[in-house]
Amino acid sequence: MINALRGMKDLIFEEAERYRYITETAARIAQNYGFSYIETPILEETRLFKRSVGESSDIVGKEMYQFTDKGGNDVCLRPEGTAGVVRAFIQAKLDRQQGQKYRFFYFGPMFRYERPQKGRLRQFHQFGVESFGEAAVEEDFTLIQMLADIFDTLGIRYSVKINSLGCKECMPPYRESLVSHLQDIEDGLCEDCRRRIATNPIRVLDCKNESCQNLLKEAPRITDNLCEKCDRDFARLKHLLSESGIPYEVDANLVRGLDYYSGTAFEFVSDEIGAQSAIAGGGRYDRLVEFLDGRPTPGIGFAIGIERIMELVQMPEKSREGWYLGAMLPEAVESLLDLAHKRREAGEKTVVEYTPKSLKAHLKGADKIGARYCAVIGEDELANGTIWVKDLEEKSERVAPIESLESLI
Ligand code: HAM
Repeated sequence: MINALRGMKDLIFEEAERYRYITETAARIAQNYGFSYIETPILEETRLFKRSVGESSDIVGKEMYQFTDKGGNDVCLRPEGTAGVVRAFIQAKLDRQQGQKYRFFYFGPMFRYERPQKGRLRQFHQFGVESFGEAAVEEDFTLIQMLADIFDTLGIRYSVKINSLGCKECMPPYRESLVSHLQDIEDGLCEDCRRRIATNPIRVLDCKNESCQNLLKEAPRITDNLCEKCDRDFARLKHLLSESGIPYEVDANLVRGLDYYSGTAFEFVSDEIGAQSAIAGGGRYDRLVEFLDGRPTPGIGFAIGIERIMELVQMPEKSREGWYLGAMLPEAVESLLDLAHKRREAGEKTVVEYTPKSLKAHLKGADKIGARYCAVIGEDELANGTIWVKDLEEKSERVAPIESLESLI
């Protein structure tokens, strides 16, 4: 037997329905916020991710599904959605229309070769949004509010963590003072952290190792070292969140695992799903369009991890729907096909059972697929040009001329 690869899974029945419900709900809300749908390829050039997510990140350094294609191109399965959307934005020359705003949403599979565990897959799905051209911090607030709206609508409880990662003015001097502090405590840090002092010192701050975290208590905090502009923006963001009643917590160690962020960073966390508790993350990436050879354009976005919220979603109650059509004798089957087509053309879900069966068996079949009406042609009905219909919700039954099935609804 051939199974799905480790860390990859099928979405089937209830899970497939949950997936659709989540993406449809989030898409509807994103559209209300002025975002439009974008679809980009799953396979991209490897250098796209090296230059955006960053070579020092775990994602690019350790987790990429990377290979050489038959044409000799170095390609990989996308580990996240932002880089591809930014590439598409530049490729469509939208970066040349300065002053314009472009807002996109997307959803689909992402690939990271991680060690699979609960909430951590190798193929997982994200719903994400990216906003281009809007530098105002009100946009940062609006994206966090949109995420809150999506989770509220889906019935998911969360807490919000925010941070500011500074800009090209205040981040470099902060990084320097952090490095000098890290060098002082280097001996006590774990191997990963020691390596990161040189490659990606900011990432040391979110080390999960408790002894590292103890040593980091005295480390300089980015939020105490922001330039005037970043400080003002961060204060305004906090004000807007407080005014709108979205509870949040400032976490100066929230640095995110991707290198393209600057300014606002945020994560939504659930305490109901175990160790992999981040259900969404995002932030500003005001330099990313430039890094990928576009004209400088501010950007901000987020992505939700769909598998992580799958079990938390409160699905709306399902009501019985549509038709189940069956026959008790072979000669009656053909007329069901025409009847089914009429119902489908009228926009009603209709399923036909081709095998003649007893009434009891048909009722069971109709119940199994959640049909509202079970309609059956037996010997008498065939002779009289009628059909027997049971409304499985109201528990009423009657016989009607086959031509006037509509009249029963
Ligand atoms: P990220 O934080 O790497 O950000 O991923 C976003 C979300 O995807 C996470 O919060 C988590 O819920 C989910 N996720 C990540 N890895 C896995 C995994 N292995 N298995 C299951 N779920 C996972 C990004 O990807 C950025 N592109 C978000 C963004 C958009 N920033 C700006 N725009």
